[in-house]
Amino acid sequence: MNIKIIVKIKYKERVSVILKSIFRTKPISSLIKETQGEKSLNKALGAFELTMLGIGAIVGSGIFVLTGEAAAKFSGPALVLSFVAAGFACAFAALCYAEFAAIVPVAGSAYTYGYAALGEVWAWIIGWDLILEYAVAIGAVAIGWSGYVTSLMNNIGIKLPSALVNSPYDGGIINLPAILIIGVISLLLITGVKESARFNNIIVIIKLGVIFLFIFLAVGHVKPANWHPFMPNGFSGVMQGAAYVFFAYIGFDAVSTAAEEVKNPQKDLPKGIIASLVICTILYIVVSAILTGTVPYMKFAGVSAPVAFALQEIGINWGSALVSVGAIFGLTSVLLVMMFGQTRIFFAMSRDGLLPEVIGGINKKTKTPINSTLIVGVVTALIAGFLPIEIVSELTNIGTLAAFIIVSVGVIVLRKRRPDINRPFKCPLVPITPMISVIACGALIFQLQTATKIRFVVWFVLGLIVYMVYGRYHSTMNQDEDISEIAE
Ligand code: ALA
Repeated sequence: MNIKIIVKIKYKERVSVILKSIFRTKPISSLIKETQGEKSLNKALGAFELTMLGIGAIVGSGIFVLTGEAAAKFSGPALVLSFVAAGFACAFAALCYAEFAAIVPVAGSAYTYGYAALGEVWAWIIGWDLILEYAVAIGAVAIGWSGYVTSLMNNIGIKLPSALVNSPYDGGIINLPAILIIGVISLLLITGVKESARFNNIIVIIKLGVIFLFIFLAVGHVKPANWHPFMPNGFSGVMQGAAYVFFAYIGFDAVSTAAEEVKNPQKDLPKGIIASLVICTILYIVVSAILTGTVPYMKFAGVSAPVAFALQEIGINWGSALVSVGAIFGLTSVLLVMMFGQTRIFFAMSRDGLLPEVIGGINKKTKTPINSTLIVGVVTALIAGFLPIEIVSELTNIGTLAAFIIVSVGVIVLRKRRPDINRPFKCPLVPITPMISVIACGALIFQLQTATKIRFVVWFVLGLIVYMVYGRYHSTMNQDEDISEIAE
């Protein structure tokens, strides 16, 4: 045979082997089996704790920090519509998450769903992408936390040195409070999931308390005249505002990362995901309507604590101080749950061999993934301590939206490939619901800045290289090549 033809055949064979290996899927039964035995986590959570975890992750800087800028820059009083639009996209994505969470109650959330439905390389891409959602958001929220603490200390006369509360990009040396809070939360997460959930419950009650306090104090001061003009920047302003405040909803999916620590995951996960999203959407709509009704929207330009600011504007200073304290608590629980989520995703990726095994190490006494917690703590502390919020926070939205899109497509694919599997929760109207989710999330991505999209593509390519160089060769699927049940 001609040497050229032999080379061509060999090349084709090679490509087909690579394609087969990168698109191999993991059987659901084996995913669930891996959660039992030595590498298992402590099952301590029920629907109530999950809903509280969801609210813990969702209500944070989105409502306490970003609403002011969103109203002043993009939406105007139509901020309420921006929240409705972003909530709409999330609602459809949440139904898709709920279906997967009930079928595959395994720690990795969207990463694991990708493994079950779409293939290893997709799973890796989602896992890599979720680093943007979780680790980057942790950095951004910790910087916000530090800002609130610094200003509250200022108010009571304690002035922290500016070099120690700002990153080098903002004219300082290090953002010490941001690093400190990440250290404290890492320690808490290492002590145990039950302790962490209990701590989270208390914080969530406090932050819901201050939001209700705001509603109660401000509602009587609403002047309908402040709602005119309702859409100063038209419909496009509303949509840009929606892409911006989308950050406020990030976190309901973090509920699904706790899957292996839930007593009755098939029932409780869908409940936790949907309940936390519904509660937060209602709160956001009410708060944003009252905010823009109490203070003319232009006044929010450059305001980083809009909820506290609105109370100051109507002369209720004690309420404003209380809201600031509540916001600090609120941001703390976002950090807690997002860190929890990131450690569980790393844990699942390491168990599958796509990340080094050492990352998945579990502390025998507390049964928590100690190594992944330490790694996440160090990496996010570096982000929060030395980088400016603008660079890191922009990427969070695009990373999350991309994960939502892949999960939604995954629901359609898995329904086709495995119509037979038991679905304890069924996303209604498939494929319409997932398709609406894809379109709505895609529309929000479209609104983001070009620079953000370019950074995302660079991150994506970097991830593919890491997978090709490391993950593909170390995947535990290599030892068990014939277990791919969906691909056949
Ligand atoms: N949704 C979270 C927040 O607003 C990330 O802080």
